[in-house]
Amino acid sequence: MVGWSGVGRAVSRRPHHEMALITGASSGLGAAFARALPASTGLLLTARDAAALAEIAAGLAVGGRTVETLAADLTDAEARQQVIDRATALEIDLFINNAGAGAIGAVVDQPRQTQAATIDLNVVAMADLTRALLPGLLDRAEDTGQRAGLILVSSSTALAPLPYFAAYAASKAFSLFYGEALAAELRGRPIDVEVLCPGPTRTAFGERAGFAPGNLPGAANADQVAREALAALGRRVVVATGRLNGPMVETMMRPRLAFTMGLGRVMRPLAKRRTGRGDDEL
Ligand SMILES: NC(=O)c1ccc[n+]([C@@H]2O[C@H](COP(=O)([O-])OP(=O)(O)OC[C@H]3O[C@@H](n4cnc5c(N)ncnc54)[C@H](OP(=O)(O)O)[C@@H]3O)[C@@H](O)[C@H]2O)c1
Repeated sequence: MVGWSGVGRAVSRRPHHEMALITGASSGLGAAFARALPASTGLLLTARDAAALAEIAAGLAVGGRTVETLAADLTDAEARQQVIDRATALEIDLFINNAGAGAIGAVVDQPRQTQAATIDLNVVAMADLTRALLPGLLDRAEDTGQRAGLILVSSSTALAPLPYFAAYAASKAFSLFYGEALAAELRGRPIDVEVLCPGPTRTAFGERAGFAPGNLPGAANADQVAREALAALGRRVVVATGRLNGPMVETMMRPRLAFTMGLGRVMRPLAKRRTGRGDDEL
C-alpha cells in the first residue's frame, strides 16, 4: 500500500470509532470493511439486498455489539434520507462511503438508464450522503474529543479517462477530486478524510460491471484492501492499494499535491467572504 500524506495530518495512533456507517455493505469491499473494524465499533450496514445484509450482520453481532442493517437503494432520494436519519440517530463517527457500480461498454451503445444509474450512485448519492452527514461527524468529534473518520471509495480508474468504462471512470474522478478538496477544506478539523483508490479487487464488481467471468489478473483480496485502508486513515489522504496499482497512483498523483494545497490557500479567503465564517471554521 502506498499513498501520499498530501493535505492529511499524521497521527500517532489509530483513532477509535464508536459507530460506523458502511454503504455497499452487502458484498465485496463493504462487507470486508465491516469484518475489518474492531468489535468495539458498532455498525450500520446498508445496501439494497436485505438478506445479504442480514447474513453479514448475523456473523458480526456478537457480545452485545450494535449491528443494524437498513436496506436502501441509494439512488432513491427518499431511501437515502432514511439512511441519513438512522445514521444521525445512531451518532456515527465513521462513514465509509463505499457503494458503487459501473457498466462496461461504449457510451453510445449503453442504455441511458445504465449511465444514469452509475452517476446517480457514484456521484450524486456519494456527495449527498457526505454533505448530509459531515456536520454531525464534526459536531460529535468536537463534543467528544475523538476524531471522526470519512472514507470515500474511489478507484484507480479515477486517474485517467477510460474508454468503454467512461461514465464509471469519470464518476470515480469526481469522488477523488471531491475527497481531496474536502480533506484540504477540513484541515485542522477533528476528522480524518481518506480517498481510497483500489486497483482490481476480487469482489462481485467485475461480474456486475459486465467483464468476462473471473477477475482481472493480479486482483487484490478485499479483506486485505479494507485492512490497509483502515490502517491508513489519519495518515494518508489518497490511499492506493495493490502491488502495481499503488506505485502507479503515487506517480500520477504526486504532481497534483502542491497544486491542490496552493489552490486551497487561494480559495479559502474567497469562501470566507461568501460564507462569513471564520478562518478556523473553514
Ligand atoms: N472491485 C474492484 O476491482 C474495485 C476497484 C476499484 C474501486 N472499486 C469500488 O469499490 C466499491 C465497492 O465495490 P465492490 O468491488 O465491493 O463491488 P460489489 O461487490 O459489487 O459491491 C458493491 C456494493 O454496492 C452496493 N450497491 C450497488 N448499487 C447500489 C444502490 N443503487 N444502492 C445501494 N447500494 C448499492 C451493492 O449492494 P446491493 O446490490 O445489495 O445494493 C454492494 O454492496 C465501489 O465503489 C467500487 O466502485 C472496486
